[in-house]
Amino acid sequence: MLDFAAMRATLAEAYDLAPSLTLAEEMRDVHARMERVVTLPDFARYAPYIRAINRLKHEKNAIILAHNYMTPEIYHGVADVVGDSLQLAIEATKVEAQTIVQCGVHFMAETSKILNPSKTVLIPDMEAGCSLAESITAEGVAQMRAKYPGAPVVSYVNTTAEVKAASDVCCTSSNAAQIVAAMEGDTVIMTPDQYLAQNVARQVPQKKVVWWAGSCIVHEQYTAQDLRDYRALHPDTRIIAHPECPPSVVAEADFSGSTSGIIDYVTREHPGRAMLVTECSMASNIADALPEVEFVGPCNMCPYMKKITLEKILFSLHTGTEEVFVDPEIAARARVAVERMIELSRKIAK
Ligand code: 13P
Ligand code: SF4
Repeated sequence: MLDFAAMRATLAEAYDLAPSLTLAEEMRDVHARMERVVTLPDFARYAPYIRAINRLKHEKNAIILAHNYMTPEIYHGVADVVGDSLQLAIEATKVEAQTIVQCGVHFMAETSKILNPSKTVLIPDMEAGCSLAESITAEGVAQMRAKYPGAPVVSYVNTTAEVKAASDVCCTSSNAAQIVAAMEGDTVIMTPDQYLAQNVARQVPQKKVVWWAGSCIVHEQYTAQDLRDYRALHPDTRIIAHPECPPSVVAEADFSGSTSGIIDYVTREHPGRAMLVTECSMASNIADALPEVEFVGPCNMCPYMKKITLEKILFSLHTGTEEVFVDPEIAARARVAVERMIELSRKIAK
């Protein structure tokens, strides 16, 4: 567990991190990407960290891969690559830098390590977990295989390396339906997200999809009634839901897709008013690029994603902590499942 007092003392000794309006003015181009959601005084607090992190990245030959749920100061200030889980996994296969700092949750850092065993993969906070990844173990996969003999196991990337190693192939929210459709046999086991599996089952009626009973603590909170109530109040709102939401919620939405699918949809469609039924930072990160879109409605925060902060990223780069390791034998088996997903995704995209 991170010792905050020690971390702050170490950073204070090495960097000038005092809030600076002068620096914020100098970095106006960076602030311009998040002006609608980050005030200038707030940016004045972030600017010294953003400058220090970007300098350190060059000095240490490091690259920052950041998920779409990172806060705007991370997403626009220090990330080299941003994307959904699939895009980050694909980008991880192309990294030339020696060090990857994964700004996202632990399973994402593990995926980068699985794909880059010889590189150093850092995560700014080891406790950035995921309720889905925590819901199943390799033993759970074995139980499903025993219950449905011969059925292929498609595991969401939101799983540990051990679970990936016990699976036939991985999937993400952007390719789950196509991966399930590509499996041989009538029955397909999906782990660990019951709602993603139920949403996929509707899209792929030719398969019998069976699932593990995990769920995402962020998306399971939304209800169809919330969406109906909001639509009754503002009928012109475009509602866009992540497929980790229950099927009843997805059924009320105008569109459902991965986090990058959601960004692409709003960017393409330019609705006057949009409700993103997903994690809070999504709307914040695209607000400045889409000034004509009013983002409305409830937003739920992922407490795991929010463990990643500028301060922890700087400490991670400064100290080379916290390094992510995956047992080489497990990594080799997990790599087969992840690479099979990437391969299938490429074929699907053609
Ligand atoms: P995406 O693959 O859509 O980015 O989803 C990852 C995630 O954790 C959503 O909760
Ligand atoms: Fe896991 Fe849900 Fe957080 Fe995504 S939003 S990392 S699925 S807990």
